[in-house]
Amino acid sequence: MSTPPCRVRTPRSLLCIGCTLLLLLGVSLLNLPEPQTQIVPITGVQPSDVTLLVWTHPFGHHSRLPDCEARFGIQMCVVTDDRRLYPDADGVIIHHREIATNTSALPRDPRPGGQKWIWMNFESPSHTRGLRRIEGLFNLTMTYRLDSDIFLPYGYLVPRRHTHHVAPPTRLQRPRLLAWVISNWSELQARVAYYRRLANYVGVDVFGQAGVSLPEDSTVVRRYQFYLALENSQHTDYITEKLWNSLLAGTVPVVLGPPRENYERFLPPEAFIHVDDFPSPRLLAQYLQLLHRSPAYLQRHLAWRRSYSVHLTAFWAEHYCTACIAVRNKRLQKNIVTNLKHWFES
Ligand SMILES: *[C@@H]1O[C@H](CO)[C@@H](O)[C@H](O)[C@H]1NC(C)=O
Ligand SMILES: *[C@@H]1O[C@H](CO)[C@@H](O)[C@H](O)[C@H]1NC(C)=O
Ligand SMILES: *[C@@H]1O[C@H](CO)[C@@H](O)[C@H](O)[C@H]1NC(C)=O
Repeated sequence: MSTPPCRVRTPRSLLCIGCTLLLLLGVSLLNLPEPQTQIVPITGVQPSDVTLLVWTHPFGHHSRLPDCEARFGIQMCVVTDDRRLYPDADGVIIHHREIATNTSALPRDPRPGGQKWIWMNFESPSHTRGLRRIEGLFNLTMTYRLDSDIFLPYGYLVPRRHTHHVAPPTRLQRPRLLAWVISNWSELQARVAYYRRLANYVGVDVFGQAGVSLPEDSTVVRRYQFYLALENSQHTDYITEKLWNSLLAGTVPVVLGPPRENYERFLPPEAFIHVDDFPSPRLLAQYLQLLHRSPAYLQRHLAWRRSYSVHLTAFWAEHYCTACIAVRNKRLQKNIVTNLKHWFES
């Protein structure tokens, strides 16, 4: 059975029959994407260790390399940053930022036959330079985009498989209305412009560099009902930890980023409120205030929590182990990334 059409357009749509049905029937499980974390056996090939060489630590910050088996149950993957292992590496993972302006930071030695170079990037196209210089160099892409060779989003929903042990939805009413955490404030960004308009109609508590500073692992956000998850730039599938942190904190995210349809690839439609659902910030503000007063309506945005839990992706351990699995699964294939710039910017 497909989920009844049910989108927030105006507060009036709360009365739509589809929504009522949804409440009565509970949310049916959607086919949401999860990263590939299974080893696919290749017939006739004995399983053996796969070595993944981490060429540079992203942004120059050293992070501890994971034991993929202990951490994720992924067997026979060796992750190393020892460049002396280059000739024997099955895969070399190269983070874009360190080679963006300096291609001499790429491996210089000839690439052994069968070795895969993985282009890893989690920045949006607006913050990604130098793509033209690396056309045709890589074997696999690894990004937040669903159509990457190795797909790994900033977070994802995991279906709760044992529905009889479900966690109840997050405690409904929260004392405070709307929070925003922002570190890089720029008047040029669409999100700052939207905030300015919205703040005319509803109080927004601003945290982060631009507002009240928020201690790490703060529980402050848990006191809020809604959370502004506004991306710094708008691109296909570019939905960052802002959204997933909001869901983890039990708040209902109000999103600005790619269009609603794009969010719906990753989330049940009622799990978030999109700024485009409303013709104006004033109507969005009214809707949030209405929900805050009306637990029955609010419930609609929380019911999905019975069916899914929220997974926040672990930078960079999960990236390396997911890449290692992909290298293993694609061992006998030949792959070349062509049109990197055209694809990534589309
Ligand atoms: C470019 O990378 C090479 C190799 O890592 C390094 O020796 C060189 O200093 C870098 N150049 C610049 C301008 O950063
Ligand atoms: C902050 O935002 C501006 C404007 O979008 C951008 O140019 C800059 O790179 C950003 N800085 C950081 C540290 O992300
Ligand atoms: C990897 O990419 C390079 C450069 O395009 C190509 O020459 C090589 O055959 C590819 N190797 C594999 C195993 O896909």
